[in-house]
Amino acid sequence: MTTRRIADVLKHGQPDESLTIQGWVRTKRELKEFAFIEVNDGSSMNGLQVVVNQGTPGFDVLDRITTGTSVEVAGTLVPSPGKGQQIEMQANTVTIYGEADADTYPLQKKRHSFEFLRTIGHLRARTNTIGAVMRVRNACATAVHQFFQERGFMWVHTPIISASDCEGAGEMFTVTNLDLTKIPLKDSKESGKKEADFSQDFFGRQAYLTVSGQLEAEIMAMAFTNVYTFGPTFRAENSNTSRHLAEFWMIEPEMAFCNLDGNVELAVDFLKYIFRYVMEHCPDDMEFFNTRIDKTVLETADSIINSEFGRITYTEAVELLEKSGRTFEFPVEWGIDLQSEHERYLSEEVFKKPLVVTDYPTQIKAFYMRLNEDEKTVAAMDVLAPKIGEIIGGSQREERLDVLERRIKANHLPIEDYWWYLDLRRYGTVPHAGFGLGFERVVQFMTGMTNIRDVIPFPRTPMNAEF
Ligand code: 4AD
Ligand code: MG
Repeated sequence: MTTRRIADVLKHGQPDESLTIQGWVRTKRELKEFAFIEVNDGSSMNGLQVVVNQGTPGFDVLDRITTGTSVEVAGTLVPSPGKGQQIEMQANTVTIYGEADADTYPLQKKRHSFEFLRTIGHLRARTNTIGAVMRVRNACATAVHQFFQERGFMWVHTPIISASDCEGAGEMFTVTNLDLTKIPLKDSKESGKKEADFSQDFFGRQAYLTVSGQLEAEIMAMAFTNVYTFGPTFRAENSNTSRHLAEFWMIEPEMAFCNLDGNVELAVDFLKYIFRYVMEHCPDDMEFFNTRIDKTVLETADSIINSEFGRITYTEAVELLEKSGRTFEFPVEWGIDLQSEHERYLSEEVFKKPLVVTDYPTQIKAFYMRLNEDEKTVAAMDVLAPKIGEIIGGSQREERLDVLERRIKANHLPIEDYWWYLDLRRYGTVPHAGFGLGFERVVQFMTGMTNIRDVIPFPRTPMNAEF
């Protein structure tokens, strides 16, 4: 007899079919002559209802079946008389793989807070909400690849151990195998004080966990035109917020022969595509989020798919904020970096949908962004989403050798470290652009989950790296 996944059985199963399922028991209801058990194998929100009659091999073991028990059931599908499901299974045999002691198994039927579930990160994937999140996350990842592959972008694998600080923000984790109790020291040229001598370290220089694959993606775009990365990135920002992780996944497309407008267009198409894909492939999970997590989930998805995004410049954004009549925690004036409260005001209250903000002040953005003619602004773009704030950050890149050299120096970055990046401008330079989409932020936005720690299987945040 074939073993089938429950999602497939619920969708395609026909009365009288005989088959086997495997999974974990969510609930059990015992009556005198028979019992109902609901079995879930993670393939869908709904489990399969199994009816076990007295006399069925396995009926005698029903006492040992509790929430969390792993079972295999062989049986026949029958139309379900109950509400809410089309089909159920009449069991022929029930086999227990592993019991789950009801007195100690933490996931009993009642609802648990997400805070509590984070303390049992090894079990929370078996709950309805985290299960739905992980299925949606998987669909998002599939949509990412499908979107780019359909458009002829090449997936490139940029290094996780990197020697460059792409964002220039100094929020990097060092990778070392030096003995931390006996760090070799040398005299620093600048300060005259002692500093770690990384020439004795594994790579013969200081190396980091990457904060972004962009600079390496630019190398690849200068050979393959359109590329994208999809991998983990790491930031040692000590921000304990509901939108920050120390390890998160990022998708970074990079396009040669492309300017800021082309970049904005790709970003908008990309977000619409992911939402459409998830609505098509995970309708039950999305329905669940809409009823149980945030009543605007479906409405948001619909508006992303069907309406235009807003688009304004940074200067216009500042004007809107200044005349809002609001008092923000961080006062607004031209030149400040937009804070989450500003981003949310613009997307939630002014536009009521995602919007693209372009042309930020030069002094608050990274060195690689293309300098506009006014020199006060750069060809940057952020996509801001209601409730989340920044979901995408990107720009057209500085492709002019002399301007780029000037910008690296102005940012006090060691120009000798960027010889290869400058070479890309020396040999066959072209206008090019790209962006980074925070993968967890998009999953958060889609599902309405309020904390980013609940949309990644194993969150890493300050003081927290379980497993
Ligand atoms: O705006 P960021 O810093 O841009 C870059 O890293 C560029 N190199 C991207 C590029 O142009 N190729 O980060 C991009 C996105 C943000 O918009 C946000 O969605 C997400 O990454 N992000 C985080 N997500 C979770 N936790 C954090 N600590 C994040 N920091 C950034
Ligand atoms: Mg950013």
